[in-house]
Amino acid sequence: MNAPATDTQPAAHAATDTSTLALSALEDRDAFTRRHIGAGTADQDAMLAALGVNSLDQLISETVPASILLQDALSMDEGCTEVEALAALQAVAAKNQVAKSYIGMGYHNTHVPPVILRNVLENPAWYTAYTPYQPEIAQGRLEALLNFQQLVMDLTGMEMANASLLDEATAAAEAMALCKRSNRKKSDVYFVADDVHPQTIDVIKTRAEYFDIDVVVGNPLELDQHDVFGVQLQYPGTYGDISDLKQLISGAHQQQAMVSVAADPLALVLLESPGSMGADVVLGSLQRFGVPMGFGGPHAAFFATSDKLKRSVPGRIIGVSVDTRGNQALRMAMQTREQHIRREKATSNICTAQALLANMASFYAVYHGPEGLRKIAERTHRLTAILATGLLRKGLTCNSSYFDTLTLDLGGEREAIYQRALAAGCNFRPVGDARLGISLDETSTAADVQELFDLLLGSEHGLDLNAIDAELAGGTIATGISASQRRGDAILQHPTFNRYHSETEMLRYMKALENRDYSLVHGMIPLGSCTMKLNATAEMIPITWPAFANVHPFAPESQTAGYREMFTELEALLVEITGYDAISLQPNSGAQGEYAGLLAIRKYQESIGQAQRNICLIPASAHGTNPASAAMMGMKVVIVECDGEGNVSIDDLQTKAERHADDLSCLMITYPSTHGVFEQNIVEICDIVHANGGQVYMDGANMNAQVGLSKPGLMGSDVSHLNLHKTFAIPHGGGGPGMGPIGVKSHLAPFLPGHSVTDVPNLATQNGAVSASPFGSGAILPISYLYIRMLGQQGLRHSTEVAILAANYLALKLGEQYPILYRGRNGRVAHECIVDVRPLKESCGVTEEDIAKRLMDYGFHAPTMSFPVPGTLMIEPTESESLAELDRFIEAMTGIRQEIARVESGEWAIEVSPLRQAPHTQADLRAAWDRPYSIEQGLFPTAATRSNKFWPSANRIDNVYGDRNFFCSCPPVASYEDDGQ
Ligand SMILES: Cc1ncc(COP(=O)(O)O)c(C=O)c1O
Repeated sequence: MNAPATDTQPAAHAATDTSTLALSALEDRDAFTRRHIGAGTADQDAMLAALGVNSLDQLISETVPASILLQDALSMDEGCTEVEALAALQAVAAKNQVAKSYIGMGYHNTHVPPVILRNVLENPAWYTAYTPYQPEIAQGRLEALLNFQQLVMDLTGMEMANASLLDEATAAAEAMALCKRSNRKKSDVYFVADDVHPQTIDVIKTRAEYFDIDVVVGNPLELDQHDVFGVQLQYPGTYGDISDLKQLISGAHQQQAMVSVAADPLALVLLESPGSMGADVVLGSLQRFGVPMGFGGPHAAFFATSDKLKRSVPGRIIGVSVDTRGNQALRMAMQTREQHIRREKATSNICTAQALLANMASFYAVYHGPEGLRKIAERTHRLTAILATGLLRKGLTCNSSYFDTLTLDLGGEREAIYQRALAAGCNFRPVGDARLGISLDETSTAADVQELFDLLLGSEHGLDLNAIDAELAGGTIATGISASQRRGDAILQHPTFNRYHSETEMLRYMKALENRDYSLVHGMIPLGSCTMKLNATAEMIPITWPAFANVHPFAPESQTAGYREMFTELEALLVEITGYDAISLQPNSGAQGEYAGLLAIRKYQESIGQAQRNICLIPASAHGTNPASAAMMGMKVVIVECDGEGNVSIDDLQTKAERHADDLSCLMITYPSTHGVFEQNIVEICDIVHANGGQVYMDGANMNAQVGLSKPGLMGSDVSHLNLHKTFAIPHGGGGPGMGPIGVKSHLAPFLPGHSVTDVPNLATQNGAVSASPFGSGAILPISYLYIRMLGQQGLRHSTEVAILAANYLALKLGEQYPILYRGRNGRVAHECIVDVRPLKESCGVTEEDIAKRLMDYGFHAPTMSFPVPGTLMIEPTESESLAELDRFIEAMTGIRQEIARVESGEWAIEVSPLRQAPHTQADLRAAWDRPYSIEQGLFPTAATRSNKFWPSANRIDNVYGDRNFFCSCPPVASYEDDGQ
């Protein structure tokens, strides 16, 4: 939303005489840096002048403690142009070989419907939105996520579902934790069927260790030989069999064990649902619903339960509520109960999940509808049945029950066939020494099956596909699904899944939802601690290149040289930026990085005979995921107080570190602090912790204030996660994907996450995994890689400097009207600042929520509300906003302050003021206008809103109603219709 020209905009420059410039200047090699950084030189000069400093260097030296300020430039190349960076990356991508994958194991080829590819995955209006914390301007993605939940509920047969988790393996670990909490049975044993995907078993085992849970992996038919509190099954199993869930679940229930079923969503289109057979939790991955494999991610995992478990479900749940006009509106249900916000009492630390991918999967279901999905599932199954029948007739043996996966017993011929397939560009799954797994999918064709026959039997096999097909279709021979295993109930009956099957209708539906949502395409999203910077188009382009998108995470290493080269380079760049010695790319979110980092700390302490160290010191201001992650690692959280300036109280830290010197594991600290200041004593803080035997975990959420200026690894920290979806330009996707790689000092490096299926370089496979895939979400790593390469040494530092400049400029201007809660040395803030609204609440009842909602009327997304201090707004502009946009925000906050003054003076009662009535919608225009302020004041308070209005699609949404009347599936269609009031 560009403001029309105002007085605050700099005058156009006189034309430069380009004819005298040297070629090096004409090459314009820093063009990307100039476009990434929103404020040009003149804007920066204007802000510096307003702040009373002569240069960025002066501002930085006034702001960043001298003890940590880098003296040397980052040791890396200068930035490059978009053209060069993309060409170089294309050459790297070309080193990947895209073979046809038959590996399965939870990752399948899929056709991304082009209308979804272009209008969602490649569309910044979808991928740059934030988590829908401000529901009035997020109704579009809330509806798409509600559709996701409905899809999951229908497929699984469960009563409720959440709006995605990080991956299937993480979801399974969450299910184990949920069973442990929810089941009163006195057992610490969790049974995992031996046909669960190996990566899932790996992550479950990692998670179990610090919950003191014993994991038994075995044949589920022998479950009665164990006394367990919960069971994890896979449906169909990793080798393809469809087990008799009913019998297994009732066997488990007889011994009061709860049952979680990891299910394949495409198989569920045909198979009886686990819910109808009594499962307590059903989870899985919706990757094959139109989301590329991407070398392991990102994809949306799902998690569904019975209604009685709804308050224990990890992650976010979208629910139905009403707005102040009584119109139906969606919001994140139990918002304030989000698991990690319960801090150390949390049962999960999931914050960022996989919203963008969940939206894609839900649109895939809307696009195909129940009939289309049935055709896809039936076709996949038919081709598998043709393959199985032909092979059987030729004397090969495989599982007799199956949906899309066969595991063949090939004895001594296995290796030769495996190699023959590789040479033909087909990847099979080797199982043990003599078996081979083959999974078919949506993209499989009759020609593929013909090729498989040739590969497995030699070209003289003489099998007639069409004849076998006729027999299967005619029912004269059995397929791998018996009549009793087929589901009898209808799925996806809601009109949403039956309406939009022409491309025109589909396009318009998605566009209609998109239009309800505020994203970075509309204006600044100044969410503190979230770093909503530019997600440059050039950075996004490679993620849909087939050479990145269509690679299976367990493809042979020889085929993934391009990915591995990029990872190695990215790791080296992150090592240079952070000052650590090693990086793990595995964690899929910041919180998962915290978990992986704490795991490394504990493993290291065990390795030096200090397993007793289990105290985690955490400042009172920490983000909720910090204590939640510590709790997941079996640690005891001890809170360290902050002083009046918002800094960690050194006295309190000293006292508590000394008190717990014998069992201190670590301190978790965010730097710069969540209060938005560079604490001067950070080196001393790290020293105190080390002197008392602990390690320092530095939460890297605020790395955007450090890159190129300071390095956590040089300040004394031992480990950090980096939210690549903040500082390193991965878009937030409306609530994910994210990536939370961790950097560690060398002593922790041997304890980084490993993987049981694919080797992670330099790590033992027995190091447990924290994610399903060895390198997390490989498909989005090109974004951060390009970000670093294009900005280069100077551009990275300059970005950080301008982020700090913009925050200080806002603090200066807003500080004239609102108190800025915390400032550091010389009155400077770091890359964000906190506006204190509490005095206004006291003076006239205006709350931070009123201001947040009113900002929507002014064409803005609200800053972060009530974190880290209740009653405040935390504002982070980032380096990507222009001075014009910063000034537009200041103008909005000024206008709001003037409105508050009218409430303070008694001119307006708070209840009928534009602040409390915010946000205003078109429904307000249609109703009789009975407000003490004009329509123009209410809806078009600035010139910018008069020329380019963003319309909130709901009036203020009731925070309480939706939780009291919890409802998380798609409501009847009639209720979507506006009642015209
Ligand atoms: C300070 C801080 N730490 C940790 C996190 C968790 O990161 P994620 O949402 O990627 O799990 C956040 C997220 O907003 C944060 O602000």
